[in-house]
Amino acid sequence: MKVVIVYASVHHGNTKKIVDEIAKAKEVELVDATQVKEMDLSGYDLLGFASGIYYGKFHQAVLNFASVNLPQDKKVFLICTYGGKTEFQSMETILEGKHADLVGKFSCKGYDTYGPFKLIGGIAKGHPTEKDLEAAVNFYQGLMKKA
Ligand SMILES: Cc1cc2nc3c(=O)[nH]c(=O)nc-3n(C[C@H](O)[C@H](O)[C@H](O)COP(=O)(O)O)c2cc1C
Repeated sequence: MKVVIVYASVHHGNTKKIVDEIAKAKEVELVDATQVKEMDLSGYDLLGFASGIYYGKFHQAVLNFASVNLPQDKKVFLICTYGGKTEFQSMETILEGKHADLVGKFSCKGYDTYGPFKLIGGIAKGHPTEKDLEAAVNFYQGLMKKA
């Protein structure tokens, strides 16, 4: 089973903590979409897209990466970290256009000091927690069992 997770984690590395934890536990390739723009994904059995939520969307680098590189009819899972509210629609719209099979979604809070939140020391402090990381690995293991 060949798996890759394409991610963007630009605020506090919250999303990176999640994907690193999964990659520590299981064999997964990680690709930073802010660095890599084009890639042949045809050889992967399962693809993950992971991002913080910025202005109500996945990071533009992840959205662009998926639009450009995701082949039709792939199995896909999504991961996001957020300060206030989870969001998957920005990715789901792209996945629909690619006839992807969305096999799972995971989200958890991520420390957020954007804009006015900085003045109060940020929100979702301490997230992702150890418990969040454990839940992410469990989510991934669940996907592997289904696959
Ligand atoms: C520019 C910016 C915009 C953000 N917009 C949102 C938002 O619309 N909704 C939300 O819930 N969190 C928002 N956040 C908080 C991030 O989604 C949250 O901190 C996330 O865990 C960041 O992930 P990262 O550290 O992997 O980049 C925003 C953060 C930044 C820096």
